[in-house]
Amino acid sequence: MEKDIIRVVGGKELKGSVEISQAKNSVLKLMAASLLADDEVFIEKPPFIYDVNLMIELLKSLGATISTEGNGLKIIPQVNNFEADYELVSKMRASILVLGPLVAKYGRAKVALPGGCNIGHRKIDLHLEGLKALGASVDYESGYIVAKADRLKGSYIHLPIPSVGATENLLMAACLAEGKTVIENAAREPEIVDLANFLNKMGARINGAGSSRIEIEGVKKLKGTSHLPIPDRIEAGTFIAAALITGSELLIKNVVPEHLAYVLKKLEEAGARLEVEKNSIRVHRTERLRGIDVATFPYPGFPTDLQPLVMSVLCFAEGISVITENIFDNRFLHADELVRMGAKIEINGKHAIIHGVSKLYGVPIRAMDLRGGASLVIAALGAEGETIVYDAYHIFRGYENFIEKLKVIGANVEREVS
Ligand code: UD1
Repeated sequence: MEKDIIRVVGGKELKGSVEISQAKNSVLKLMAASLLADDEVFIEKPPFIYDVNLMIELLKSLGATISTEGNGLKIIPQVNNFEADYELVSKMRASILVLGPLVAKYGRAKVALPGGCNIGHRKIDLHLEGLKALGASVDYESGYIVAKADRLKGSYIHLPIPSVGATENLLMAACLAEGKTVIENAAREPEIVDLANFLNKMGARINGAGSSRIEIEGVKKLKGTSHLPIPDRIEAGTFIAAALITGSELLIKNVVPEHLAYVLKKLEEAGARLEVEKNSIRVHRTERLRGIDVATFPYPGFPTDLQPLVMSVLCFAEGISVITENIFDNRFLHADELVRMGAKIEINGKHAIIHGVSKLYGVPIRAMDLRGGASLVIAALGAEGETIVYDAYHIFRGYENFIEKLKVIGANVEREVS
């Protein structure tokens, strides 16, 4: 297997500004949703990252024609194959999101059971139950899910948990169903609102996205559209963490601060000095932060995707912090690596107890998943000496120009692939 490492020499102050890309977690869903359109869809400024490339491959394998034009992605969504095969799907969990659009528009879909990040057991039962409620038949056939329907029928769906993926799959499917669908206890993430706005531009009739009750009046057809996805709140949070760990002043541009409202509040509780403007956040230089307690919850709570990043920040804070991971079972893989750098962290079930230390040290460590991997690089920026992060490819699934962006603000980082 090829070697993919990031070398970080810590201790450098960061400066200047960084431009955040559009959100991976929005773009992947918009790409899946484009399958619902009858004609061309244009997605402006998608991040050109590994997961987006995988989604391009997946849509192409279904028959879509995709090309980059300027700084956007043109998708001509004609489909002549209804099977999303294991090789692609197993590499990216978001692949499951082609299921709803395919069955809604073409009446059939065969999608391999998904893979994705190593962050615990990630079920899709709610996606499937919801599709059944919309009238689809859903069967398992040796590692594949096969869904069929003549035309989906609007239904009342009460999600037992506000799953982001299930809300998205069902929202997309319901757009072409006959009659009205209500999704109760829907996820309220900004990416859901972005998806609903995109679908409405295509001619869908969705109300209430961003609240826990979404109503969808089914339509017969959806047309193409052009859309600029929302900025990536997780990438923004990653660079805020980098500034805090290195005690730097940094301007984070292309952000919707409201999407990070709760995160900013928690960081301020830890002593961060943050200045919010319309589309940017300025992180001011601070002395050592204080320990705080953080618990992940569905939006508008603290995002699970920023949990590894805040852990890195809190490793350097004064006093004790407790992080509670409520969304995923196995999302502390980065903690052992931080411990190798000198952090003091005890894991107890879904809690991580962090005793702040004044220093971390550069050592060889391994990225285990996307956000956890990024949290190690960010921790390394504040560590003494050189850190080598192995299996860095995880990080490039979700961060566009990560190394280049860090370098521009003064970090001493290099990627080596051999
Ligand atoms: C989740 C995150 C999302 C993040 C993404 C990538 C939440 C609520 N969701 O979205 O913010 O960007 O990971 O890291 O924070 N579940 C079921 N059955 C299902 C679907 C989900 O039991 O059919 C459970 C999951 O196991 C999990 C919870 O619901 O415990 C939330 O999952 P879900 O929101 O669907 O995950 P993603 O869509 O991957």
